[in-house]
Amino acid sequence: MAANKKLLVLPGDGIGPEVMGEVSRVVEWFGDRRALKFETEEGLVGGAAIDAQGTPLADATMAKAMDADAVLLGAVGGPKWDNLPFEQKPERGLLRLRKDMALFANLRPAICFDALVEASSLKAEIVAGLDIMILRELTGGVYFGTPRGIETLADGTRRGINTQVYTTPEIHRVARVGFELARKRSNKLCSVEKANVMESGVLWREEVQKLHDAEYGDVELTHMYADNCAMQLVRAPKQFDVIVTDNLFGDMLSDQAAMLTGSLGMLPSASLGDPDETGRRKALYEPVHGTAPDIAGQGQANPIACVLSFAMMLRYSLDLGGEADLVETAVRNVLASGKRTADIAAPGEAALSTAEMGAAVLAELETLGA
Ligand code: IPM
Ligand code: MG
Repeated sequence: MAANKKLLVLPGDGIGPEVMGEVSRVVEWFGDRRALKFETEEGLVGGAAIDAQGTPLADATMAKAMDADAVLLGAVGGPKWDNLPFEQKPERGLLRLRKDMALFANLRPAICFDALVEASSLKAEIVAGLDIMILRELTGGVYFGTPRGIETLADGTRRGINTQVYTTPEIHRVARVGFELARKRSNKLCSVEKANVMESGVLWREEVQKLHDAEYGDVELTHMYADNCAMQLVRAPKQFDVIVTDNLFGDMLSDQAAMLTGSLGMLPSASLGDPDETGRRKALYEPVHGTAPDIAGQGQANPIACVLSFAMMLRYSLDLGGEADLVETAVRNVLASGKRTADIAAPGEAALSTAEMGAAVLAELETLGA
């Protein structure tokens, strides 16, 4: 590659630093063995940034994120900061990154590795071979809509308000990503909303259909209400290929889809903006799991979701699909050899630590690709 790629690493809180530690070793491995040099900088986000800098995301860190070829994030939040005022919570740091970088397309693939079929809480035949993509709109909807807030009425009653709002460009740009993704997969897109009760859902459905009819007639488009989608995801998840949905429904459905794959510790994600004049997209990669305060600092966390997020970075930000395949194959082989962290181990089965799982992935990379 011509110039070194600029990578901003934001480990965050809870198990974030632990899983990111293993990913850093994978990043270094690519530098040493595959001549893929990154200019890596590390920064603070979330509670870690609150403690050190008094804000969940310092302006200087935000500026570095804007300038980076890709941002790799661990997780943010934790009980220590739960009682802070809303605007100062760790989560605001992550939401600011998403909003200011205009990362409207959040790709959350849910793939059930053969070796983990038994780790899912669903029957093996329901999840075996599962490979779906949830595309979540990430910069609009009720997460950012105004008016919002908590007010006290004249009679002392308190009222909390959030606003679900979408415009046609917001719907079109994410639906377009959905159609393009579907074309590269099994050519099926399911658009999910609550058009039976929400005007924003009616608009969503109409506009996705319009875009389909105008430009993507070759893709098989269906529409589904979000409650039905939640049910179908556990009844027969393999009916789906790509699901496109709004910010809030996507948040919930992607957690649900994660459990189909055995563990939330397995699910990576990519958050992408529109390409600029040079074709470069702003991008942030993060595991879907959160900070898992109950196991933080104990070296038990599964680093695979974060490792697979790095693989998504290779694929979507650096256009290095072959290198991404290498990482994914290494993970698949490690799982096939029976290695498990606690979240995916069967009851009574021995579990690897975070570092041991990281080492196992590195050893497999070494075998596959050095
Ligand atoms: C996610 C998380 C975040 C969200 C939180 C940490 C703000 O649940 O990425 O799914 O709600 O979007
Ligand atoms: Mg979530």
